[in-house]
Amino acid sequence: MSASPRDQILRLRAEILRYEELYRKKHAPEISDFEFDKLVDQLADLEREFPMFAGPDLGIGDDKSEGFQQADHKAPMLSLDNTYDEADFRAFGDRLYKALGGTGLEFIVEPKVDGVAVSLTFEQGKFVRAVTRGNGARGDDVTANVSLIREIPRTLKGAPDLLEVRGEIYMELAEFQRLNTEREAAGEPLYANPRNLAAGTVKLLDGEEARRRRLSIVCYGLGACEPASAFATLKEFKTKLKDWGFPIRDDIDVQQGVDAAWKAIQQLDALRRDLPFPTDGAVVKVNRLEDQRRAGTTSKFPHWAVAFKFPPDQAETILRKISMQVGRTGAITPVAELDPVLLAGSTVARATLHNAAEIARKDIREGDTVRIQKAGEIIPQVLGVVLAKRPADARPFDFEGRLKELGLDATRDGEEAAYKLRAPSRDMKIRRLVHFASKQCLDIDGLGDAVAEQLVDLALVDAPVDALAVTPAQWRMLEGFKDKSVDNMMTGLEQAKQRELWRAIHALGIPNVGMQTAKDLARHFKSMDALENVKREQLLTFIRINRNTGEPVYESVISGVGIEVSESILSFFSDPNHRDWVKAMRTAGLNLIEAAAAGSVAGVAGKTFVLTGTLPTLGRDEARDLIEKAGGKVSGSVSKKTDYVVAGEEAGSKLTKAQELGVAILDEAGLRTLLGG
Ligand code: IVH
Repeated sequence: MSASPRDQILRLRAEILRYEELYRKKHAPEISDFEFDKLVDQLADLEREFPMFAGPDLGIGDDKSEGFQQADHKAPMLSLDNTYDEADFRAFGDRLYKALGGTGLEFIVEPKVDGVAVSLTFEQGKFVRAVTRGNGARGDDVTANVSLIREIPRTLKGAPDLLEVRGEIYMELAEFQRLNTEREAAGEPLYANPRNLAAGTVKLLDGEEARRRRLSIVCYGLGACEPASAFATLKEFKTKLKDWGFPIRDDIDVQQGVDAAWKAIQQLDALRRDLPFPTDGAVVKVNRLEDQRRAGTTSKFPHWAVAFKFPPDQAETILRKISMQVGRTGAITPVAELDPVLLAGSTVARATLHNAAEIARKDIREGDTVRIQKAGEIIPQVLGVVLAKRPADARPFDFEGRLKELGLDATRDGEEAAYKLRAPSRDMKIRRLVHFASKQCLDIDGLGDAVAEQLVDLALVDAPVDALAVTPAQWRMLEGFKDKSVDNMMTGLEQAKQRELWRAIHALGIPNVGMQTAKDLARHFKSMDALENVKREQLLTFIRINRNTGEPVYESVISGVGIEVSESILSFFSDPNHRDWVKAMRTAGLNLIEAAAAGSVAGVAGKTFVLTGTLPTLGRDEARDLIEKAGGKVSGSVSKKTDYVVAGEEAGSKLTKAQELGVAILDEAGLRTLLGG
């Protein structure tokens, strides 16, 4: 029995929105782009066939987010239509020849870099702003973070008066792995893929963290250009870009005709796994700009360019068992234990199954043959079951039954949420303690895995804070602990008590609160007491009632602290056990207030600054360092929460915004005075 077209449409729309949110807002996709495109196509087909059930445009692909100033694109930023096989691609060529008539079409073929599209505006040859695609007409101003990319030239000799350079910001695979190695060491969940991490980094509101992650860029396209006659071909434009010092890809030269372009695509397919950036296809574009203009565009795609998506690497294998992985916070993630197979250059034996709902949706059973895929993701995904190969005795997976068998007493907040342990397991207690003592938390020397295991097994530690109250006599019960090591440990604990507030906050292990957020919270609340007793309205402000659902819509108050994090904080401190932890921290004499940092300057400490334009003597980074050393914070965009805008020569829209909002404006001399000369 199949659902009615109306129900199918409604279901598809809900499904697409959910996957879009996971991809775009949470930067944690659950399905591949290919599967996503298929859903979108399916919906388009259905809505075409049954227009009476069609809904409003879903706004897929719009990347605009809270907390950013926006800017218009002078020329629209279009997306590309996708093709998946040779016939598809040749049909694109045929359409072009028909539209343009005659012969002699030239193509540029490039790797399709899997990152975030960005438009760099140059006025009179000076770099003025970087904006994301947004909805194609208007995007987020991400100049602050994009300015951290050194490869972007700041001034162009002999440039047109106005120039929009289009490119893709990405993260090199090596950098992605470096960051994930760090995360793993800190016991934090790994980033899913470089594309989402690059997108997340471009949108980070905090420059400090953004600077720790190295982004790269490749430029490939021409947006608005005045005078319009500056370039005749894409090739000419790219050559100029290269002269100016922009990173571009010119692995492949201009191709004459569709056959040659197709050969070039295959050349790229052979080469792609050796490229230092993630790529999921090739882009083919008409070379002559006059031909481009004649071919025209739809509202979303140009007729003169197309993406060819390489098939992601897939394999079939048998799923032997579904095991349960328990995270530090007690969240349970189901994991597929697979017969090892070779996939995209590495052996895969495990894959995440995300959560119980995902297993149910795909009806994944133990013993099933499954298709797995690695598409940019480092962690492979289970796409689905090969039903023809399902063993006769395979039973639907009983998630709760399995939890019971394993002795895991867990519960969940709703169908889509993860199951969580009601009480901590031995393993959780150990990991919580290791996190508590780690370099990024209280930094307690000598309290690593081996010591944590013993503390938990000897029942000296249940909650991580208990470690602060372990007596010298008790430390001596641990293997290898003699007078000297006990002394060292006691000294280490004393030092830990003097550390900054953010470390104590991070040490609590509040879900979704990483180091950066802990710092933001410390800066904002100034004491554990204030954080612990925070009210919902201090984290979130009510914006409006959603007319479709009747539910209230909130926006976050603190920069870098989103809705999910806010909920997480509230729920964490609503647990009396967690309030006891804080009490124990206090009793142990841990520092729980934001002390004025060394070098901090009254009038600067705790204030938020935005830098814009060119200062007479200070470079951006220098100015930022001075402000941060004095205890201030530098943010990328102007809002009501901004205390000062420091404006130099050729300050742009940020200055205007500051004037509109009545934010105090300083020049370099003013900043220096504030900093104390
Ligand atoms: S040209 C009119 N060239 O892929 C659009 N795009 O899926 C011209 N992309 O929006 C785009 N590498 O963000 C072009 N070498 C390349 C690309 C590329 C990646 C991105 C770009 C585009 C998206 C479409």
